[in-house]
Amino acid sequence: MSLSVVFNLSFSVVSNLSLSVVPTLSLSVVSNMSLSVVSTLSFSVVFNLSFSVVSNLSLSVVPTLTFVYSMLMRGRPFPLHVMLEAGVFCSLNGFAQSHYLVHCAHYHPTWTSDTRFLIGSTLFLLGMAINVHSDYLLRNLRQPGEVVYKIPKGGLFHYVSGANYFGEIVEWMGYAIATWSLTTFSFAFCSLCFIGRRAFHHHRFYHEKFHDYPRSRKALIPFIF
Ligand SMILES: NC(=O)c1ccc[n+]([C@@H]2O[C@H](COP(=O)([O-])OP(=O)(O)OC[C@H]3O[C@@H](n4cnc5c(N)ncnc54)[C@H](OP(=O)(O)O)[C@@H]3O)[C@@H](O)[C@H]2O)c1
Repeated sequence: MSLSVVFNLSFSVVSNLSLSVVPTLSLSVVSNMSLSVVSTLSFSVVFNLSFSVVSNLSLSVVPTLTFVYSMLMRGRPFPLHVMLEAGVFCSLNGFAQSHYLVHCAHYHPTWTSDTRFLIGSTLFLLGMAINVHSDYLLRNLRQPGEVVYKIPKGGLFHYVSGANYFGEIVEWMGYAIATWSLTTFSFAFCSLCFIGRRAFHHHRFYHEKFHDYPRSRKALIPFIF
């Protein structure tokens, strides 16, 4: 188990470092990639998957997000310093989360059949699916070479302006419920505060920019906010 953790941790750090030397990659690539690796890593500990499965998962996530996802992005290059800051944050956070789960937290062997674990894992996977799908819709709003902003359509964008952020918040809330600890709830709460604000700002921007922006669409939480 510890071998797999070290292996995954190194991947998290190495992948962040390798991203930091590519100035045209965006923040979303860094955060998505690092957090995906962190989530894979953390869940690998809780799920008690075998070393080979975990390694394969990480090995497929890292190159996919680093070399494929980044190439799919359309728009302006992202400031290098913001990308570096995001890389440092994600690496430290990844280390802190995994250190806690591996060395500090104690789970009973029956934890994987506990209701909290089952609900949390389901929310985690659902949130991840919403997040990935919504990012896909956003990426494809632009033609190659375009830098304009358009009204997002499809999926949960029908209900909220920040569908990708909503997905990510559900994802980390699920992760916190499945792992049931102050450490993971703190992370989920910080994510909510940080990306929730981004959703609100995007929503306000859309309303200022597009006069025909759908009035019923909320900022972050469908039908509510
Ligand atoms: N957990 C965390 O702390 C954290 C923090 C940040 C991000 N993230 C995750 O990283 C991912 C991306 O985040 P982000 O803040 O970079 O997302 P974003 O601002 O929505 O942008 C994502 C991509 O879509 C483009 N885009 C967004 N809205 C568009 C529109 N209306 N028309 C055309 N293109 C549009 C952006 O172009 P421009 O770059 O030109 O705007 C960018 O390339 C999300 O999944 C988010 O949840 C997580």
